[in-house]
Amino acid sequence: MERLIIKGGNQLHGEVECSGAKNAGLPILASTILFDDPVSVFNLPHLKDISTMLELLNSMGSMIRFEEDDGIEIDSSSINNPEARYELVKTMRASVLVMGPLLAKYGKAKISQPGGCNIGTRPIDFHLAGLQQMGANITTDSKFIYLETENLKATHFKFPKISVTGTENLIMASIFCDGTTTLENCAREPEVEDLINFLNSSGAKISRTDDSTVIIEGVGTLNRNNWSILPDRIEAGTYLVAGAITNGHVKVNGIQPTLLEPIIEKFKEMGAVISTGKDFVEIDATLTDLKACNISTEPFPGFPTDMQAQFMALNTISKGESTIVENVFENRFQHVVELKKMGADISLNGSSAMINGVANLVGSSVTASDLRASASLVLAGLVGKNRTEIEDIFHIDRGYECIEEKLNKLGAEIVREPIV
Ligand code: UD1
Repeated sequence: MERLIIKGGNQLHGEVECSGAKNAGLPILASTILFDDPVSVFNLPHLKDISTMLELLNSMGSMIRFEEDDGIEIDSSSINNPEARYELVKTMRASVLVMGPLLAKYGKAKISQPGGCNIGTRPIDFHLAGLQQMGANITTDSKFIYLETENLKATHFKFPKISVTGTENLIMASIFCDGTTTLENCAREPEVEDLINFLNSSGAKISRTDDSTVIIEGVGTLNRNNWSILPDRIEAGTYLVAGAITNGHVKVNGIQPTLLEPIIEKFKEMGAVISTGKDFVEIDATLTDLKACNISTEPFPGFPTDMQAQFMALNTISKGESTIVENVFENRFQHVVELKKMGADISLNGSSAMINGVANLVGSSVTASDLRASASLVLAGLVGKNRTEIEDIFHIDRGYECIEEKLNKLGAEIVREPIV
């Protein structure tokens, strides 16, 4: 076990490189199950969730080879055990992304029950309803979900609510169906687009008739391919908040500004100076005290739930009152109690958080409860007076590559130390 120790108070300045997007890497790795040939994937972030997906593929029989130029070659033609084990699913719910491709390619899958998680119940009922409608026979017991089919059939399915991994799972499931599958009310997140672009460049026929309807015309096979993963807009957004919260000046390289539009809008509303180029976004918060902003999380192109906790940290020390409404997950305010320990003035009412900006946060001992909550604690620690200690940082390592290295390069003082 390790913890992060942060000495707060430094203004951050400089440039930071954006890593590949975890949430694009995970479905693209799962989709290699659909291929007869090896696939090479580049720009994968070095993260625990990515190694968990590779371990899962490997445990089912995929061959993984690390290439010299930081690529990873995955050959899933040798899968002989289509089972997602409990030890892996429990550490990463996105393991359920193998369900669709396993059914499409092998006609069966056995997936450990994902259960609840820290940010809400997060059921997978939409994934299962879609697969059932495509002809999968699904049974469950207390530990596993068993899925089997002779042949998945093209269908017309409407998601009751937008689901990112649900959309990805059903797209992958329908790749080889005879005829045309129509999926309505689909997610439009850039990471879903990255999966669609990758599959299309491998020979799939996936299109959108309108923003939220995806059409998949079945094909017989997918071709050998190489793919470089999209940059991580949430990581980029988090480093921009690090610049903003410290009244600093930070440039994030390797990210297209279009991916960050709703986030950039909020920074502008708060009074920060934003400059953008083809592949960078820069924030200058040195000249002004930022005004708190109201936020309401929505599926893309709305403000992302994965940036809610980071903006909460920023609002706690920005001028004025603000309200943050969390519309995507029902229990995504676990960072509130920890931020309050650091002096934040926040009250909760159902899915809304009311924040009164304070002059200072004070360093404290806090515990990370989920991935983005832990990012908000690091951000608060950057401005907290004195020293902040963050425990359970395995959550951070699931989604941020070398977070302390990147922040220290910008002028932060963060040390990782073992807990003895
Ligand atoms: C993905 C992202 C996660 C992000 C979330 C919302 C990955 C690996 N993770 O998670 O970082 O926070 O999108 O942008 O891409 N729901 C159901 N039944 C289902 C599926 C979802 O009720 O079968 C509900 C969820 O409980 C939640 C909402 O739908 O309230 C959206 O969840 P969803 O988009 O599925 O999140 P994930 O795909 O798990």
